[in-house]
Amino acid sequence: MNIFYGKVALRDYLKSITTSNSNIGFVPTMGALHQGHLALIQKSLSENEHTVVSIFVNPTQFNNPEDLAKYPRTLEEDVKKLTALDPKIILYAPTVEDIYDGKPVSQSFNFDGLENQMEGKFRPGHFDGVGTIVKRLFEIVAPTKAYFGEKDFQQLQIVKKMVAKNNLKVKIIGCPIFRETNHLAMSSRNERLSPLERDKAAFIYETLVQVKQKFTSDSPSVISEWVQNEFKNNPLFTLEYFVIADEETLSECKQKNKNKKYRAFIAVLVNNIRLIDTISLN
Ligand code: PAF
Repeated sequence: MNIFYGKVALRDYLKSITTSNSNIGFVPTMGALHQGHLALIQKSLSENEHTVVSIFVNPTQFNNPEDLAKYPRTLEEDVKKLTALDPKIILYAPTVEDIYDGKPVSQSFNFDGLENQMEGKFRPGHFDGVGTIVKRLFEIVAPTKAYFGEKDFQQLQIVKKMVAKNNLKVKIIGCPIFRETNHLAMSSRNERLSPLERDKAAFIYETLVQVKQKFTSDSPSVISEWVQNEFKNNPLFTLEYFVIADEETLSECKQKNKNKKYRAFIAVLVNNIRLIDTISLN
């Protein structure tokens, strides 16, 4: 597998293997690759002549230094997984210096308010960091299509907004959430859970499934109160937020409108490890 640690070498290589008609699929990741990532990569491989995967733990999107320090870094394992999937994958695993040229700071973005909800409220500066790195990676890789998981649904909507506002040529493809056998949403952070915590974390998705059932008859405020109580009765978890929101604007749903699509979003701390999940409600 071809691995590049610097943008100049990667760009030169891409230039040498592509023509103006070539399709490049791109899967940006922060590594600690799991089945969810591999499914995105598999989709890219099936839809494009070339697939680039990036592995970069982007410091500017972490508002919590402990979360950044403890984020799993497993490059050797990741390379093995990618090689086993398809040795034609092109891996870009840059250094912070290669990406930020000595200035690891975020650009400031206006995502028309999408950035102020949920993750944006609880992780100040997070989406400026995401916007900065994704835009930079798109400039370097120049992909035809880029693949993002729906677990980070807010991120997906924000990336789509950034592409639209900047008239970028890349097509953004959202892909369904991959779940473990107990239905916990796959995440690199799951690696940090103990086996017992990982098992018990099934409670997050089980709660969302009940939310979906309740959404047919109950109001968003009644459902929210029910969720708060469920988590109060389960001391392993600290509920950071539970929100039912409009899929397009991500603004909180106070009253249902039958013409809109809604989603429930949840963020939970398990032993200080932050897990998020989401479910479509209608
Ligand atoms: O979802 C992620 O893993 C990251 O936010 C991304 C898109 C790779 C940007 O660092």
